[in-house]
Amino acid sequence: MPVKGCGVDAIEIARIARAIKRPGFQGRVFTEYERDYLSSRPVQSWAARFAAKEAVMKSLGRGWLQGVSFAEIEIRADEWGRPSVTLVGGAREVARQQGVTRFVVSLTHTKELAIAYVIALGEEEHAGSDW
Ligand SMILES: CC(C)(COP(=O)(O)OP(=O)(O)OC[C@H]1O[C@@H](n2cnc3c(N)ncnc32)[C@H](O)[C@@H]1OP(=O)(O)O)[C@@H](O)C(=O)NCCC(=O)NCCS
Repeated sequence: MPVKGCGVDAIEIARIARAIKRPGFQGRVFTEYERDYLSSRPVQSWAARFAAKEAVMKSLGRGWLQGVSFAEIEIRADEWGRPSVTLVGGAREVARQQGVTRFVVSLTHTKELAIAYVIALGEEEHAGSDW
């Protein structure tokens, strides 16, 4: 499966701790699924998902205000806690144009810093995708 791109991002926990208290931030950046999942988790997990969204943007070569918005990138967790990426809207369209059909993502965090690393993968044409 060809590698189409990669992205990495590091974010200070304190910045996200401040941001999630601001009106509108949670709804603008995180999907309903993410808000529900994160509601019982520490700010480090919120920060790691913010970093993952930026890492996905970098793997696509498009940032915020360049055709991809935060809430169009959803980070899910499977029953074991392993994260995965789902796209909707403009993000999905940018991925489609680039032949990106799935991502692999890894998250980590300490008390002060969260980091995400993403690899964008492509498929043979007409082989379907994760979204
Ligand atoms: C692409 C994007 C995600 C990069 O975010 P960033 O916070 O500026 O990036 P970082 O500081 O982590 O990394 C900077 C590096 O990203 C890389 N980069 C910049 N634009 C990029 C792009 N379109 N695609 C891939 N990588 C990019 C560059 O190599 C840059 O390093 P340089 O400045 O030394 O050249 C950015 O365009 C973006 O949309 N940021 C979101 C803005 C934000 O946080 N808003 C808050 C809203 S609530």
